[in-house]
Amino acid sequence: MKLLRRTLSTTSFFDRVGRDWVRAWDERLTPWELGSPNPIYQELIQKQHLAVQDKRVLMPGCGSGYDAITVCRLGRPASLTAIDLSSKAISIAQSHPIPPQFKDTLKFQQQDFFSIDTTKYQYDVIIDYLFYSAMDIPMRSRVVEQMYKLLAPNGVVATIIFPLQLNNENETVGPPYHMKLEHYIEKFQQHHFKLIRTNTLEDSIVPRRNRELFALWGKA
Ligand SMILES: C[S@@+](CC[C@H](N)C(=O)[O-])C[C@H]1O[C@@H](n2cnc3c(N)ncnc32)[C@H](O)[C@@H]1O
Repeated sequence: MKLLRRTLSTTSFFDRVGRDWVRAWDERLTPWELGSPNPIYQELIQKQHLAVQDKRVLMPGCGSGYDAITVCRLGRPASLTAIDLSSKAISIAQSHPIPPQFKDTLKFQQQDFFSIDTTKYQYDVIIDYLFYSAMDIPMRSRVVEQMYKLLAPNGVVATIIFPLQLNNENETVGPPYHMKLEHYIEKFQQHHFKLIRTNTLEDSIVPRRNRELFALWGKA
């Protein structure tokens, strides 16, 4: 009976915290969290799918910050701004030891992605992992519009698409919302982006294996 209920469930963990990210962090209902660096960033940077050297990088929805530190350490950006809506997430991120050589490069800050002043800040690379796919469906256009405004003319948005929809999962239940590359293409093209390339990934953690795809977008 329990199993049946779980199979038929149309809610996500997020409903338990009133679909509120700050509360999810405050109550530590953060089931996506690995609590350690995600190995996928090592693959992305070492195989040069993702190039951030000397670039201004933005990571929206950085969570507990392990991945921003990895990107800094392996990718050597000029600057990396890692933001999250939750001050709890940011205080966890700030509690990690940051190698002294990155003290001026890496900045964690509590901020709403939609409130970044697009007339003041521009980035060469925006890294999206579990941010776009975590946003409720009606928010997707706003996310892509804001990315477009924040991106420098030759900048790129690097998305690690997860979870890929493989078996007709209900794509309206989330977050995270199951997604196909075509869904991204449709939305990103609507907002004047073009797909530059995709790369399949090998080093996904076991529960995410074959469910992640790297896609790089530029301004059309
Ligand atoms: C599913 S989590 C992914 C976190 C992280 N990227 C990871 O891979 O573990 C989505 C994150 O986005 C943050 N978030 C949601 N809305 C946001 C907003 N408007 N501005 C900034 N961060 C936001 C949440 O607090 C949460 O930490």
